[in-house]
Amino acid sequence: MSPRARILKADAQSIETAAELIRRGGIVGMPTETVYGLAGSALDPEALAKIFEAKERPTFDPLIVHVEPSAKDLVSLERLGLVNAAALSSSVQAQINALIAAFWPGPLTLVLPKQASVPDLCTSGLLSVALRMPRHPVAQELIRATGTPLAAPSANRFGRISPTTALAVMEELGDRIELILDGGPCEVGVESTVVEVPTNGPARLLRPGGIPRSEIETILGVSLEVSITPGRVEAPGMLESHYAPQKPLYLLPKPARELQAHPLGEAWRLRSAGIILLSANAEERATAEKHLSGLLSCPVEVLALSESGDLHEIARNLFSTLRKMDSRPVDAIFVETCPPNHGLGHAIADRLRRASAKRPLR
Ligand code: TXA
Ligand code: MG
Repeated sequence: MSPRARILKADAQSIETAAELIRRGGIVGMPTETVYGLAGSALDPEALAKIFEAKERPTFDPLIVHVEPSAKDLVSLERLGLVNAAALSSSVQAQINALIAAFWPGPLTLVLPKQASVPDLCTSGLLSVALRMPRHPVAQELIRATGTPLAAPSANRFGRISPTTALAVMEELGDRIELILDGGPCEVGVESTVVEVPTNGPARLLRPGGIPRSEIETILGVSLEVSITPGRVEAPGMLESHYAPQKPLYLLPKPARELQAHPLGEAWRLRSAGIILLSANAEERATAEKHLSGLLSCPVEVLALSESGDLHEIARNLFSTLRKMDSRPVDAIFVETCPPNHGLGHAIADRLRRASAKRPLR
């Protein structure tokens, strides 16, 4: 019979239980400040295989390795058997150390040349490894207690909405894993920013995320190359359709209050629709409900990601609100797009674009 996961409130005892499971080659749902991860030993190919299997993740999509807070620079990452620092020039090494000093622990993932001891399955055969030091105390404790770096992709089935609570991990993977540590709702709500620092050539932004691009550029003193072209796979995991709810999701071409016509055209008849606004108070939600139920000629349910328009709040509530709306009796979900084009706005826009992308037949 398939296991039914237990959710344990994270404390010294449950963290030790999880560490023991991982030391025996198992995998565990782990809170981080960005989203929940599905963690197993990064150095154990069998544990890595379990992660790919539980997520139904294609093995061409490499995993992020999470390191403990004592790894404060490249030298420590080299000592952990993860990074081959000798492949990097001294000026690039200095840049990486500056990024680590500025953003770790926190939502920045660095893609660096790997050592041979990192299993190929972890990096999908690439010569680089993605590393980050999470800020969440439970993740830090678990890595320390396990005594090994932890590979952890987001704890969702492949292509689906990333989980930001222990219950959401249960919904995604509860029939496939034994244990989920509950560390409360995630504080950031979108995944880490992924930056590749190649042996030669400029640093590249592979995925916008919890650390705004401009803050990274301030530390580097140069602009990041941005290699995120819609329709092209850059970070191997950056497939167009991702973060997808089960209901069809459409982005509104303009703010909901400015819409003058049915967003899908007259021919569409929905029995009910869910509307997600970026920012609205109770009164604005009520106005939007009236306006959109008129345009769509059906009842609508309106949720807002924030009352104030604060980008941190929008990011924090994004995945949980998508998940909530997905569980409502609505035929389709419409989301306001165009978050401000700065700070976390890039990551929010990226996730929404992928959540609404056409899905491949699976
Ligand atoms: O915030 C996060 O990063 C979360 C939490 C759990 O830490 N993790 C996460 O992992 O988002 P995942 O597997 O969902 O996304 C990892 C991304 C993928 O797009 C993958 O392709 C990219 O990082 N990546 C990993 N290793 C890479 C490498 N060697 N080169 C390029 N991209 C890589
Ligand atoms: Mg993911």
